[in-house]
Amino acid sequence: MQKLKIACFFGGCSSEYDVSLVSATSVIRNIDQTKYDLIMIGITKEGDFYLYNGEIDKIENNQWFQKDTCQKITISTNRSDHGFINLETNELIRIDLAMPILHGRNGEDGRLQGLFELAHIPFIGCGMTSSAICMDKVIAHELVRAKGILVPKFHSFKRTDEKSMILEESKDLTYPVFVKPIKAGSSFGITKVLKEADLENAIDLAFQYDDSITIEENVEGFEVGCAVLGNESLTIGEVDEIELQDGFFDYEEKYTLKTSKIILPARIDEKERNRIQKTALEIYQILGCQGFARVDMFYTPDKKIVFNEVNTIPGCTSHSRYPSMLKEIGYDFRDVIEEWIKLGLKRG
Ligand SMILES: Nc1ncnc2c1ncn2[C@@H]1O[C@H](COP(=O)(O)OP(=O)(O)O)[C@@H](O)[C@H]1O
Ligand SMILES: [Mg+2]
Repeated sequence: MQKLKIACFFGGCSSEYDVSLVSATSVIRNIDQTKYDLIMIGITKEGDFYLYNGEIDKIENNQWFQKDTCQKITISTNRSDHGFINLETNELIRIDLAMPILHGRNGEDGRLQGLFELAHIPFIGCGMTSSAICMDKVIAHELVRAKGILVPKFHSFKRTDEKSMILEESKDLTYPVFVKPIKAGSSFGITKVLKEADLENAIDLAFQYDDSITIEENVEGFEVGCAVLGNESLTIGEVDEIELQDGFFDYEEKYTLKTSKIILPARIDEKERNRIQKTALEIYQILGCQGFARVDMFYTPDKKIVFNEVNTIPGCTSHSRYPSMLKEIGYDFRDVIEEWIKLGLKRG
């Protein structure tokens, strides 16, 4: 029997390009290649797609983009092609499944998922609409809030809004506030603002990452996360907790854990952890997630659960939060990848 052909995508035209290289390397190393025929597709920061035939290590250290190991490709929009065209040889390569291990814009935000849906190529993770909704921090908050789940108090603004109006409308927010680009990730462009005098600089920074921003009140307490796996019948990992020394979970802390710690299971009693899991499942369903996602929330000193965001392609090195939470309930990283593949094929 022929092995199923899986195309794993890495890199991406996104500020989270480097994070994807690390996640994808880990996924590629853990795919069962006795079972699947693995094809690697690298996307440059500029947004060009290449079939990659080099060593896996060169992905992680961003040395993959070399003439002798890369050939330019394009995904065919034709359903009958069910794959991509090698633009250098004109060869058409059929694939059975796409694995976008990409973070942020143009990879996690529904655009590539939409292309796969158009081309009728099964893929792992959330679909186009759900990916786009989860990438938009304000739309996601509005949908979740409409179902009675708490979200931080926020105001959102467009680049075309007058600065004076933004400052005026934000006056009813209690400091500290978080200023964020609405569609970004890895904490890029986010500032925790302690006093009104510093708000303007934070607004300017956030607009460097997106045309729209949100300003939201700080939620007291700590962050908790849940790893969800499944299409209809859902599996949920153990709840984790982020212990911060001070400030917030910014880019440096996320990838070095210099002063912060991920605590698993979260130091909350079991009944409360179950309540957090139940809320995470509800959010996953409200936002139409499929395959997998990490749902992030805050847990306040008065035991409120407040929604933060859903990461539809969470960091996925074998020591990242998503795999670790599932490991706690007995799933090895290889099992998780196997589930992603099965769930993706089922949806196709
Ligand atoms: N309203 C808030 N209250 C407290 N901390 C927040 C709030 N919003 C964001 N943060 C902090 O900023 C970090 C990044 O914000 P988040 O909205 O998760 O953006 P990203 O998509 O970049 O991860 C969070 O992990 C958290 O530490
Ligand atoms: Mg986050």
